[in-house]
Amino acid sequence: MYIIAPSILSADFARLGEEVVNVVDSGADWIHFDVMDNHYVPNMTIGPVVCKAIRPLTQAPIDVHLMVKPVDRLIGEFAKAGANLITFHPEATEHIDRGLSLIRESGCQAGLVFNPATPLHYMDYVMDRLDLVLLMGVNPGFGGQKFIPSTLTKLHEARQRVDRHERETGRRIRVEIDGGVKIDNIAAIARAGADTFVAGSAIYEAGKDSDPHRYDAVIAALRAELARR
Ligand code: DX5
Ligand code: ZN
Repeated sequence: MYIIAPSILSADFARLGEEVVNVVDSGADWIHFDVMDNHYVPNMTIGPVVCKAIRPLTQAPIDVHLMVKPVDRLIGEFAKAGANLITFHPEATEHIDRGLSLIRESGCQAGLVFNPATPLHYMDYVMDRLDLVLLMGVNPGFGGQKFIPSTLTKLHEARQRVDRHERETGRRIRVEIDGGVKIDNIAAIARAGADTFVAGSAIYEAGKDSDPHRYDAVIAALRAELARR
């Protein structure tokens, strides 16, 4: 039931294809794909062309996290490029409901992303269109930041909302956490209600001295922590 989604933001971009293949071979469930535009966040990363390039290399779902403004035009581009899940930030669009519908109509699963200070009420009237909610444990823009502890309380609240929705409708919504997830806090984060874990620096730093890069040990350690949560 737990999903581990390494963020390729911390991978070695000079050997990105190999990094994707190796991390999945090492036990990752999804590939987390961070899209930054130097407008919504103060950093710039990768777009649909790179998604399309890695798509043939793995069967693992590609979890596209859009940190861009405007949002809508890129949704179709990423669906065409092989994304399986697409999430965006409610502050980055005037049309949250339309964005979610566009994602689902393009055949992908849809989610909203909540920054540390973004209230959860953005999900209230669109629960039926959400496949996941993603809570940021850091302010978006960079890998390798420290987890903000108040996110635990917020995760608990998000978990209550999605559990209530599941009781009422039978439909499951995943609760994903992104930013600052490490071996030493993943169990507490799971106890607070997350079931899907993005980890960038924790995973890619751990393998960077092996050649070829392998991530079995760190992913096993994350799962061991989850098993004894
Ligand atoms: C932050 C990104 C995250 C980030 C996670 O803006 O959305 O996915 O890469 O990196 P770590 O796990 O290093 O905090
Ligand atoms: Zn992310």
